[in-house]
Amino acid sequence: MRLILLGPPGAGKGTQATSIATEFNIPHISTGDIFRYNIKEGTELGKKAKSFMDQGLLVPDEVVVEIVEDRIKQEDCEKGFLLDGFPRTVPQAVALDEVMNKMGVSLDKVINIQVDKNILVERAVGRRICKGCSATYHIQFNPSATEGICDKCGGNLYQRDDDNEATVTTRIDVYLNETLPLIEYYENKDKLTVIDGQQHIDKVFEDIVNVLRSEK
Ligand code: AP5
Ligand code: MG
Ligand code: ZN
Repeated sequence: MRLILLGPPGAGKGTQATSIATEFNIPHISTGDIFRYNIKEGTELGKKAKSFMDQGLLVPDEVVVEIVEDRIKQEDCEKGFLLDGFPRTVPQAVALDEVMNKMGVSLDKVINIQVDKNILVERAVGRRICKGCSATYHIQFNPSATEGICDKCGGNLYQRDDDNEATVTTRIDVYLNETLPLIEYYENKDKLTVIDGQQHIDKVFEDIVNVLRSEK
C-alpha cells in the first residue's frame, strides 16, 4: 500500500503514521524526522534544512524531492510506504508522480487529517517527544505516566525547537498557502479521503484503518 498523510502542523500525522505503519507493515517516511535526524547528526543536509525549519518555512523543493526519491527506491519500500509531511507543495506532488510513474507504481490513497486552525497551536506547543524512541506525547491530551519520561523506553522527553507559538503560527500560514492546494490536486485524481482529526486518537486511527481496509 502506498499512502500519503496530509494535514496541517499538529493535525496528528506523526501520531497516526506510527500506528498505520505497524498495522500495515510499511515503512513510515517523515521528511520532518529525516531533517531533524540530520540536524542532530550535524550533516550538510541538516545544516541546509535548519534555518528554514527554525523559521517555520519549507525546505526548498529540490532538496526534499531528492531525499524522498532515494528513500522510496529502497528495498523496504517495495511493498509500499507511508509518506508523512511530503508532498507539501504542488511541485513536490508533481515530482512524486513522475518518480512513481518511472518506478511503475501508483498511489493508493491520500488521507487528509482535518483539524480546526485554533486547536493546532495548542497541540503543537504541548507536544513532547522521546529522545530515545521518538514516541510523541502531549502534556494535556496524551501525557506520559511520569512527567518528562517516555512510557515505552524510559527516555527523556523534549520539545521541538519549532514548537513555540510564533513558529507554529508561521507553519500554519505556510500550510494554508502552499500545501492546501494539494487537497484539490488529489481530489481531482480521486485519491483523497478526509478524516476528522478532532476525535480521540484511537477513533481517528479506527476511521483511517476502515478506509484503508475497504480500499484493498
Ligand atoms: P514536520 O515535522 O512534518 O512538521 P509538521 O508538518 O509541522 O507537522 P507536525 O509534525 O508538527 O504535526 P503532526 O501532524 O505530525 O502532529 P503529531 O502527530 O505530532 O515538518 C517540520 C519542518 O520540516 C517543516 O516546517 C519544514 O521546514 C520541514 N519540512 C518537512 N517536510 C517538508 C517538505 N515536504 N517540504 C519542505 N519542507 C519540509 O501531533 C501533534 C500533537 O497533538 C502531539 O502532541 C500529539 O500527542 C497530539 N495529538 C495528536 N492527535 C491528537 C488527537 N486526535 N487529539 C488530541 N491530541 C492529539
Ligand atoms: Mg509530525
Ligand atoms: Zn521512548
